[in-house]
Amino acid sequence: MKILAFAASSSSQSINKKLVTYATSLIENAEVKVIDLNDYELPMFSEDKERELGQPTLSKDFLNEIHNSDAVIISFAEHNGSYSVAYKNIFDWSSRINPKVFQDKPMIMLATSPGESGGASVLATAVNSAPYFAGNVVGSCSVPSFYDNYDFELGQISNSVIQSEIQVVVNKLPQKTR
Ligand SMILES: Cc1cc2nc3c(=O)[nH]c(=O)nc-3n(C[C@H](O)[C@H](O)[C@H](O)COP(=O)(O)O)c2cc1C
Repeated sequence: MKILAFAASSSSQSINKKLVTYATSLIENAEVKVIDLNDYELPMFSEDKERELGQPTLSKDFLNEIHNSDAVIISFAEHNGSYSVAYKNIFDWSSRINPKVFQDKPMIMLATSPGESGGASVLATAVNSAPYFAGNVVGSCSVPSFYDNYDFELGQISNSVIQSEIQVVVNKLPQKTR
């Protein structure tokens, strides 16, 4: 089964990309595709830009990646309590083509940050709003203090309690996607 995964970040060093990649490694028998939002960079959305550019190919491509998956896993970077610009921009462009951006896919939403809150604010925003965009969030988890809880050499969460929490969340994906 096909899993689409990405970090809602445009950082080349994204800790959310590390987290989402780790989470996908816990899913057995899955074909995982990790995309990078840097490959979906568009001008800052405005209705004026939309009149100028119409429906950009990159936003259609983004929607197609979701369409072609059986489940979606996103890990959100938190910028000032909310979404990164990179994520909000491709989301806004895409929502003008299909307001049901998540297309009824089962989803897992994650977040992490260097701080103790672990991106809990942006994660709550994403989880609470997902139903308005046809997102079926089956599980979510924020990882606090990422640098204390991740082994960069091994490429995995080092805290066994958090490891278990992520495994529990990943196991909530419907059986056919595992
Ligand atoms: C503009 C900006 C705002 C930030 N705001 C928050 C915040 O509100 N809460 C938080 O926990 N971390 C905040 N951070 C720190 C990010 O969590 C940190 O940069 C993290 O690495 C972002 O995730 P990423 O590496 O996946 O991009 C902020 C960072 C930037 C650059």
